Amino acid sequence: MFTTDPGRAGAPGEVLLTAEGLEKSFGTNTVLRSIDLTVRRGEVVALVGPSGSGKTTVLRCLNGLEVPDGGTVAFAGGPSVTFGARVSPRELASLRDQSAMVFQQYNLFPHRTVLENIIEGPVQVQKRRRAEAVQDAEKLLDRVGLLAKKDQYPFELSGGQQQRVGIVRALALRPDLLLFDEPTSALDPELVGEVLKVIKDLAEEDWTMVIVTHELAFAREVADEVVFMDGGVVVERGHPDQVLRNPKHERTRRFVQRLLHPF
Ligand SMILES: Nc1ncnc2c1ncn2[C@@H]1O[C@H](COP(=O)(O)OP(=O)(O)OP(=O)(O)O)[C@@H](O)[C@H]1O
Ligand SMILES: [Mg+2]
Repeated sequence: MFTTDPGRAGAPGEVLLTAEGLEKSFGTNTVLRSIDLTVRRGEVVALVGPSGSGKTTVLRCLNGLEVPDGGTVAFAGGPSVTFGARVSPRELASLRDQSAMVFQQYNLFPHRTVLENIIEGPVQVQKRRRAEAVQDAEKLLDRVGLLAKKDQYPFELSGGQQQRVGIVRALALRPDLLLFDEPTSALDPELVGEVLKVIKDLAEEDWTMVIVTHELAFAREVADEVVFMDGGVVVERGHPDQVLRNPKHERTRRFVQRLLHPF
């Protein structure tokens, strides 16, 4: 059994994240137009939508990698960060501390071993004791079946293995919230399953997650809520069966049809 301790302490079902009115432009290109998102502890939210609709930008804003032009982001027990006026480095750091990202292209350091990649954040950023971080990393690697690879370099691993290391690296930070940005879209089709299985196990252990994905069957099975974005707005949100099988909006219907019948 794959067991990890989800995030930090907190009651299941309490609101963990509230984002309101998120706005973001790059030059004259307005990418997010007032996005609202609420995520409860233990919940899985699937964020879907066409290319360029702003999904990655939403994740980056939640994680403090991108600074929104307006709106607020608040995590349970933390400050409510208001964007638009000046945001202090401390406020951004507090946001960064709440969540961890898993990237489409894994983003592992190529010249560091699997173990070094995983303990980098806990040791360098969180100032945890190295011995403790190593022990924790080894436990997590064991649970995704990769302990034997701990001293290897990323190029020696398959894409599916590298992404499982990417997931362990995020888990090792013990974040309240895991953010996945199309975690399987760079993988060969036969490697997708092993990564989705790990994410599904995490969902069953009540980790709180926002997952950007084009795997609609997976979203239907694992997500508590599906949020469909297009053109920087949330067009529709709700139970996966409703949004993906019986969408209310024409734009959602067209998107789902395109994914189900690409040609
Ligand atoms: N750093 C940036 N600088 C300028 N424009 C950007 C930047 N990041 C994103 N954009 C633009 O913002 C828009 C939304 O991009 P985003 O990556 O959030 O979309 P997405 O929904 O994740 O798309 P995809 O499914 O292709 O990953 C796009 O038009 C993109 O070109
Ligand atoms: Mg994206």
